[in-house]
Amino acid sequence: MLLISNNPSLNLKPFNSSNTGQMLRKRLQEIVHEKKQKEMQEKKQKEMQEKMQKKEIILNNRLYSVFGIVDSLADGIARITNFSDDVIFGEVVLFSGLESLSGVVMGITEKIVSVVLFFNVNRISEGDYVVPTGELVSIPIGKVFFGRVINTLGFAVDDKGTFVLPKLRRPIDSKAAGISSREAVYEPMLTGQLILDAITPIGLGQRELIIGDRQTGKTTCAWDTLINQCKDQYHFFIYSFIGQKNSFVSRLTNKYSEEKWFKRAIFISATCADSAPLQYMAAFSSCTIGEYIGLLASDAVVAYDDLSKQAVCYRQVSLLLRRPPGREAYPADVFYLHSRLLERAAKFHVSKGAGSSTALPVIETQLSDVSAYIPTNVISITDGQMFFNTEGFKKGIRPALDVNLSVSRVGSIAQWPIMRKLSAKLKSSLAQYKEVEVYASFAADLDASTLFTLNRGIKLIELLKQAKNQPLSRDEGVLLLFAGVNGYIDHLPKEDVVPFKYFLLNSVKQSNLFWELNPYKDLVAGPFEKFMDVVMSDWANKKS
Ligand SMILES: Nc1ncnc2c1ncn2[C@@H]1O[C@H](COP(=O)(O)OP(=O)(O)OP(=O)(O)O)[C@@H](O)[C@H]1O
Ligand SMILES: [Mg+2]
Repeated sequence: MLLISNNPSLNLKPFNSSNTGQMLRKRLQEIVHEKKQKEMQEKKQKEMQEKMQKKEIILNNRLYSVFGIVDSLADGIARITNFSDDVIFGEVVLFSGLESLSGVVMGITEKIVSVVLFFNVNRISEGDYVVPTGELVSIPIGKVFFGRVINTLGFAVDDKGTFVLPKLRRPIDSKAAGISSREAVYEPMLTGQLILDAITPIGLGQRELIIGDRQTGKTTCAWDTLINQCKDQYHFFIYSFIGQKNSFVSRLTNKYSEEKWFKRAIFISATCADSAPLQYMAAFSSCTIGEYIGLLASDAVVAYDDLSKQAVCYRQVSLLLRRPPGREAYPADVFYLHSRLLERAAKFHVSKGAGSSTALPVIETQLSDVSAYIPTNVISITDGQMFFNTEGFKKGIRPALDVNLSVSRVGSIAQWPIMRKLSAKLKSSLAQYKEVEVYASFAADLDASTLFTLNRGIKLIELLKQAKNQPLSRDEGVLLLFAGVNGYIDHLPKEDVVPFKYFLLNSVKQSNLFWELNPYKDLVAGPFEKFMDVVMSDWANKKS
């Protein structure tokens, strides 16, 4: 007892006699534990040194003379020693064990290399070997992907069975096409939702943002565009689900998997169950496939649903890598992340095949705040935005496009002349309606012209309401706009506008009105007026 209490290395404090035995036992246990830990550390260091001294190792049946050793593991990041001179930023590295255990180098210091893991951290342990592959993160590209749901690295994740990965690979993060490889946007890309095609027309190769609060129809807008593009326009579509629920992705894809148009689309899924790097890289994988299709002289549209969640994943990875946080804790390069992704959308020059890759990024706002950090970033990168508001959505105006806040900066050049003229009239009618709308609620006697503007606006908004997953063709859109802006529906009661719309669309199927429609010229009104007169009298007969 005297010996122990006098030993300075034990650092024992004076104790009172009542709990002496208990405290002494506790302290002795601590001393034994500390000693064991020290021994273990020394053993680990010795093992590491022995491993480092090795000249070569065998991993996955291959001989490697360059390798690193896992020093520590935490939160999906592995810190590797013995490696700094042998790898480059963005390189894929493999871990001992299965061949599929890979990660990407995202930080290099003098002694430590930080690797972001693509898999669960529990599958490796400290002291494991790591080898470089000499390749940047890439995705295989092939025909097998069409009609399938794949993950960021190209592996099938749907229930249709596995496939052999295509041999052709492309790095997911590459430089955008230069000016000489591009051409101005001039061909239209229809979403199939009439109000969007009229007010915010999109051109092939454009970047148009879909923005709005939660549950305002953003996904529906992108999905309708997919149906419209793959069904009638024969373009290709790449839809990336980023940070969505697994159940949501499988419900949506299973519902339509038997449709013919489904085979023209590729679905990339990095759900919230996947690791953060896989989620933020999914956007780049989709972009790479879209760009490749564009360079093959075809037209591809890529939807990123959504980039807010992608930015959150990137923030998570950056914070774990101990990069300095900036505004809203996002890293300083989050703008660069989105710009280098969206810059890759392009209408390619004839020398490059004249194909295109159109980008439809989705951004979620909080309380319609478009001036938040990520929304402003993406708004400034894209060529326009379609803003969906909650207020309109709740009132049943769907698609709930906010006409005042939505814009397309290059699309109207790409619009067919026939559509452009009708859209211009529609825009001015809706703008006038928005101006006088507020008076309607409190002013009792309004003058005739205000009443006319109000009535026209109300009827046009009814006409532009559209059920989901029922895209309209260009010609149907032209007909509805013609009827709307020329006052054919003004005298109808509000509740009759939607039934009349379906009646009109049914009637035109039995006629040959569209046969001689030339989208590149101005509308020849004569046949349309005659047709509308007939439909109006049929409608009146039906109603009487
Ligand atoms: N034009 C429409 N007609 C009828 N229902 C619609 C229409 N557009 C969207 N909806 C419905 O509104 C709901 C929300 O739509 P959607 O999932 O597209 O919104 P979101 O903005 O993507 O939501 P989130 O923010 O959760 O991703 C869905 O149930 C969808 O079926
Ligand atoms: Mg959505």
